[in-house]
Parts: sequence; structure tokens; C-alpha cells
Amino acid sequence: MKQANNHEKFSENFKQIPKSFIREILNVAGSDKMISFAGGLPNPDYFPIEALKHSAGVVFQNNGVEMLQYAGSRGYLPLRQWIANRYNKKYQLSIQAENIIITNGSQQAIDVIGKMFVNRGDDVLVEKPTYLGGIQALSAYSPRFLETSLNSDGPNIVETGRIFEENDVKLMYAIPNFQNPSGITYSEEKRIKLASLLNDHKVLMLEDDPYNEICFDQKCAKPVYAYAPEQVFWTGSFSKMVAPGLRMGWVVIPDGLSAYFERAKQSVDLHSNNLSQHIIYHFLVNNDIDQHLKTIRNAYARQCALMQQLIERYMPHNVHYTKPRGGMFLWLKLPYKIDAYELVERTMKQNVVFVPGSSFFVSANGQSNIRMNFSNASDDKMEEGIRIMASELKTMIYQSEELLLL
Ligand SMILES: Cc1ncc(COP(=O)(O)O)c(C=O)c1O
Repeated sequence: MKQANNHEKFSENFKQIPKSFIREILNVAGSDKMISFAGGLPNPDYFPIEALKHSAGVVFQNNGVEMLQYAGSRGYLPLRQWIANRYNKKYQLSIQAENIIITNGSQQAIDVIGKMFVNRGDDVLVEKPTYLGGIQALSAYSPRFLETSLNSDGPNIVETGRIFEENDVKLMYAIPNFQNPSGITYSEEKRIKLASLLNDHKVLMLEDDPYNEICFDQKCAKPVYAYAPEQVFWTGSFSKMVAPGLRMGWVVIPDGLSAYFERAKQSVDLHSNNLSQHIIYHFLVNNDIDQHLKTIRNAYARQCALMQQLIERYMPHNVHYTKPRGGMFLWLKLPYKIDAYELVERTMKQNVVFVPGSSFFVSANGQSNIRMNFSNASDDKMEEGIRIMASELKTMIYQSEELLLL
């Protein structure tokens, strides 16, 4: 019998995964000529290359065999203990190492949680907007996505409560710290109110927190997990703290569920990269990680402030932007329903890229929004890129005003 062509054989679940505009343009953005505000790339100036090189040498010397062998699915115990200790001290929690599993980046934890809990058609609540990689990972399980609005201090609690009342939400996926893409951070009050909704309605939450340590003023509120530890899976990452190429993250798991997460992860990849786990652990305990993080925080805070100044200087006054207290992104709202896709098509001809906002919604929204990454471009390139964006934007506004007059 003649078989269908390979593209026709894709599974229904796979076909649900949206394309990543970001990954596609990263291929272009990689070129030296390109000024990119698109990727979520940490600034490579702060990769601790020498210290990691040293750690790699030492662990090869001392633990070479152990490190190159298959390992347990939960991850390297001393590393899990290190993470538990850091969180316990920072937030006065009592997390045990057995509640933590190391993942290949926090991205993997999103997938594994989707695999564990989401059936086709289940209600999954996300923020409006939300992280594209989260949409991609969860889409593979074909949920019915619902959205809750974000205010400058976190989700609209009344709306979220109503959504919980009126639907059978199984999982809420959210990013309370320096959200990707909006840069918004939840207030302590909203965290507490959200936790009480989760507890009351017995809704699970995936609290995605890769930017936790990139808090400019270091006044990071407690995670939602602290107020609803039985409902919340709290993910973290070494991508922004150390380097993303190591692909190391983790998840703090509610009591009694670690063995199930472990089983689901085993089905994906047996265990996380053993080499990276040993190198990171050696790096963490033999270097001043707080000093390292302070350097990154100060640098990103400065870059974030510079981007805001440049927006003020070059962009029309009716362009609105968020003022993040951490992380790597800020979020623009263009006036007059200007189409961000059309803008990026124009700026790409002048080697400037950014991500149009519609990539970050599960509904048709965000056409006039833009996500701007401030951590990666040099000061000069940032100025040049924003100047070009502003000039193209002004041309588009002028043309749209002309159209209105016709
Ligand atoms: C909100 C959010 N979650 C998860 C990830 C994935 O991070 P990791 O490198 O730990 O897989 C990212 C990466 O940019 C992110 O922004």
C-alpha cells in the first residue's frame, strides 16, 4: 500500500505545537550585523568561563568515572541539597532535597508536568501574555487554554477566581517574577491571594521562576509556592545564573509527588546531564556565587535603565513600556494599533530584530505589543537599534494618520 508522505504522518499532538518566531529569527539574529532585541539571551560577558573551565578540570580529575556514567533520575544529591539550602535560607522555607529534581533546563520541567497532568481538552490557565516556550511545551498535550489578565502587580485576582469557579482548571502556568515577556512582577499581596485561590479550588500551579536571582533591588517576594506548597510545582534554572548552554534547571515538587515526576522524566531522558550537574555543583561551592550574581544584576539593571532612557529619547511619547525590577525583558505597547509584525519586517531590512507580541498569547492578541530583550545588546547597538525602530515606527504612524485623513 502506498504510504502518505512523511509530513502527513505527524501526530495531532505535535501539530498543536506553535512555531517559535524567536527560534526562527535567532537563526538570522546570530549574524554579527544584526542588532537583536529578540532572543532571551543572557549577556555572555558574564559567563564565568574561567571558573567553569577550572571546575570541569577538577571534576574530570576527581569524579571522571562517576560523571561519565548513567546516573539516578532525580539528579546529583549534593546539587539538590544546595538548591534546597539556598531557598530555605532566602525565604525561610523547609524544602528537602527529596522534593527537588534536576531537569535539563527548566523548559524540560514544563514538559514533564504537562505529561503528568494534562489530558487532551483539559483546562490550563495561562497569563495574558505568557512565555512562548511554555505555550509550546504545554500545547503538545492539547489542552484548552484559558487566559487571565495581567495588571502591573500581577494577575487580576477577581477574574482568576471567576475562571476557577466557572471552569475545571487543572493547571495554572505562570511566571510571577520579572515575567517573560512583560517584565511584570507579582506583588506579595497578589501571591498570597492567588495561593489561597489555588488552595480553595485545588488547582495545581506551575510557578516558572528562571529569573529568581536576577532581581535588581533584591527585594524578591516569597514564591507562591511558599503559601500553597501542596498545589505548586516551582521551577528554577541555572541558565540565567550561570550559563544556558549547560541546560540545567530544577523543580521543587509538592510532598508525595517526586516519585511520579521522576517516572515521567525517566520516560523522557533517563536523567539530566551528569557532566553539567557535577561541573555546576563544583562551581557553586568553590566560587562566590553571590558576588557573581551581584555583577549580573547590576549589569542588567543598568542595561534595563538605558533601554528605558533610549525609548524616552527616540520613541513617540504614546509608546508605553513596562519598568521591570529584574529579568531580561520589557514590553512595549505601540500606539494607533500599529502592527508589530509590519514594524519588524521593516526594521529587519536594517538589521534590527525584536519579537512581535502576538507570539506570547494563546489567543489573537498582542498585535501592537513588542518584547524587548535588554540584556544582550551593547550600549551602542542598543541605541542604534532603538533609533531605527523609532524612525520606522514614526513613518508607520505618519502613514496611518495620512490614511485616516483620506
Ligand atoms: C519563563 C521561562 N521559563 C523557562 C525558560 C527555559 O529556561 P531554561 O533555560 O532553564 O530551560 C525560559 C527561558 O528563557 C523562560 O523565559
